[in-house]
Parts: sequence; C-alpha cells; structure tokens
Amino acid sequence: MVKHTLAKNIDKHLNETVTLKGWVYNIRKSGKIWFLIFRDGTEFIQCVILKDEVSSEVFDLKNTLTQESSLAIEGVVQKAPRQKFGYEILVKNIKVMQIAEEYPISLKEHGIEFLLDNRHLWLRSKKQNAILRIRHEIIKASRNFFDDRDFTLIDSPMFTPNASEGTTTLFKTKYFDQDAYLTQSGQLYSEAGIMGFNKTYCFGPIFRAEKSKTRRHLTEFWMIEPEMAFYDINDNMDLAEEFVRYIVEQVLKNRKKELEILERDTSKLEKITLPFPRITYDEAVKILQDNGRDFKWGDDFGAPDETLITKKFDTPIMIHHWPAETKAFYMKRDENDDKFVLGVDMIAPEGYGEIIGGSQREEDIDLLLSRIKKENLSEEMYNWYIDLRRYGSVPHSGFGLGLERTVSWICGNQHIREAIPWPRTITRLKP
Ligand code: 4AD
Ligand code: MG
Repeated sequence: MVKHTLAKNIDKHLNETVTLKGWVYNIRKSGKIWFLIFRDGTEFIQCVILKDEVSSEVFDLKNTLTQESSLAIEGVVQKAPRQKFGYEILVKNIKVMQIAEEYPISLKEHGIEFLLDNRHLWLRSKKQNAILRIRHEIIKASRNFFDDRDFTLIDSPMFTPNASEGTTTLFKTKYFDQDAYLTQSGQLYSEAGIMGFNKTYCFGPIFRAEKSKTRRHLTEFWMIEPEMAFYDINDNMDLAEEFVRYIVEQVLKNRKKELEILERDTSKLEKITLPFPRITYDEAVKILQDNGRDFKWGDDFGAPDETLITKKFDTPIMIHHWPAETKAFYMKRDENDDKFVLGVDMIAPEGYGEIIGGSQREEDIDLLLSRIKKENLSEEMYNWYIDLRRYGSVPHSGFGLGLERTVSWICGNQHIREAIPWPRTITRLKP
C-alpha cells in the first residue's frame, strides 16, 4: 500500500492513490456497488467500492465489516461535488485490522447517562469531536494571547495546604502523614509569581467538592489564571474583555467546520465586540428588582438571576464592586466604602452564566490579616502568602477563566459535561 494520508488532507492528492487508516462509520449497499463511510478522527470520507475495481474478497467485505471495524483503505481520490467534504475515494484495496464486535453506540439516539457511561467510545462521535477540537482551539488561543503580552507561564501546585475559595468545597486528601487539599485555584501562588515575573498565568486542573448537581458545575475543571503586578480592577477588566473577545475571534476564524457541526448560531458570537458593559453589583440588583424578582441585597446571584441580568446584552457583561461577605478573603476593600470589595465576575450571554471570576487583591497587610482571622483560616499556613505584603507589596490583580464554561458557551451546549474529555461530577467518577 502507498503512504498513509490523513483523511482531512486528501484534497491535496486529487487523482492520486492514497492509503487511509481508520474505522468504519457506516455502510450502504446496493448490488454491484457499496459505500463505506470512513472516519479516521480527522474527517469523514465516503469510499466507493465497485465490483469491477476490486478483488472478490474485498467486494465481499460488505457482508462482514461492522461499525467501528478498523481498516486500511487504498484508493484514488476523486472529486465528489455532492459530498459534503467534496471528495471521495474510489477503493482499490482494503486491509482489515479488526472486525469490531457489535458497537454499543449506534447511529440512533441514546440517553445521556448511557453515553456518559460509554464516554471512552462516545469521544469518537462527530459532535464530541467538534466540541473537543474547539476546546483545543480555546486553549491554544489562551496561551497565544498571554504569551504575546509578556506573561510567563508559572504553574501552581495541585497539592496545597491552603484554601483560596472558601473551605466548603475543599477536597481533602492524605499527603503522607499530613493533610493536604487539591487546589481550588492557582491564584495565591500566582501572586507570589508576579513579584518575580511581573505578569504570569497558570493553567491547570482545579478541584472543588461541589455538592450541587447543576449543568454548570464539575468537580474537576480547568482554569486559566492570569495575574498582573501594578494592575488595578479597571486594568483587570480591560484585559479580561480583550482576552474573551480574542478567544471568540480565534474560534470563529479557525473552527468554522466544528461550529457548523454543532449548529451553533454564529451570528451571536460575531456580536462579541468591545467594550463589554460594566455594571456594579448594586446596579445588577436593581435590574433584578425592576424585573419583579425578589432578591435580597448581599446574596450571590443564582443561575436564573444571571440569565435575567444579561438578557438585555449581546456580549458578556462584567459585574464589579461586590459585597465583601459574598467574596473571598483576598479581595481588596473599596477604599471609598468598605462594605464592598473590588471583585469582578464576567457573565456570558445567552444564559451561560459566570465564565470569569477575578479581583484586585488586598495589598495591605493589616486588612489582609483581619480577613484571614475573620474567615478562621490558619495564620501560620498563610504566612508565606502574607510575606508578599511584607516584602515590597504592590497593587495587583488577576482573574480566572473557567475553561469548560467557556467551551459550553462558545459551542452553544447548555450542559458543561460535554466540554471536558472525562467529566467528573458529584455522581460520576467513571470511566
Ligand atoms: O470565580 P472563581 O471561584 O474564581 C477563582 O477561583 C479565582 N481565584 C480566580 C482568580 O482570580 N485567579 O472561579 C473562576 C471561574 C468561574 O468564573 C467559573 O467559570 C469557573 O471558574 N468555575 C467552575 N467551572 C466548572 N465547575 C465548577 N465547579 C466551577 N467553579 C468555578
Ligand atoms: Mg466566582
């Protein structure tokens, strides 16, 4: 057989003989001709098998090949204007690697729990493939964005003795003869990083023992967290909106095919232009109350609140100046009114909820210590973090973008579980 080509590249081999290696997606038979829809993980291609063009053994494979059987196909690339991809293969030879057993995922509809139980197989499907390629594009865009803006990648540890986002969602684990937690955020370490590198980002898995079963929560997810020395809350919001706009732009530019497979209404994504509206927590509460919602000042917004607040806007919006009690200990107090902290949440449009949480950080050692005490956190454990306020404390800010929430929004997928290869939720640890 001639050299192996990826299916997505066969347009460069018009009228040439190529070898493709992959799997059977579907077979259609009719007398002296049969069609094999082939996939290799890069593209789906129709292969045509004519009785007069192949040996009788190869022609008879139409009776033995099953869905997901693995094979190598040798054939000539032809134009096929009626095919979606525009090309097909006129088959000369087929070598079977394995005849697959009856495949549990057929081309008909299946229930979601069944598909999640079979995630190891479900990953092969067209839609899952499109979602995870968009995820890859968002990761690539994020790295490029920060790499091009003088940020250094300084990753944070996964094992830590510190809580950063409250103690209720900590995953505790044994660390030899000590207790440790799985990280809830890389932020505290990034704050140390910027004192050495000026601007950093970290990108890694995050663990939260979320007891709630919602379509927005995973127990293991990925976060991209930039941190910047000398940025105030406004600089932070400028960067956040530019970042999100850039991600959307890159996906629109490079993942047209995938967005089409997902039937995403891209006109909605094309409306993501700068600036994003910025409103205070108080203004957001007013929107809720004006819409007849019974909302108590000082509470956090739930999913229906966020959907209502963002309804009027085409782009994500940023809500800033939060009541101190709703937010983490490290957020800087507003100097004009210390009921508030300089935190910001970015809420995606179309009801996709919070995609970014960030803030200006408290740089004053006494205020920070009082917050640590108030939260009953062990001062001793945070001593290293408090050092950052002892040795050249500076104003600084940062934020974290939840990767899977962003993937869900851009893909137009209401449930977060398909935005990660191997979802972990309160009820799912397998496969
Ligand atoms: O708002 P959060 O909790 O912010 C932080 O952790 C900050 N320390 C980040 C920083 O400033 N460096 O989380 C950030 C984002 C949320 O906006 C949301 O998109 C996502 O992480 N997120 C989750 N995604 C999926 N499942 C969960 N359980 C999530 N919890 C938060
Ligand atoms: Mg948050």
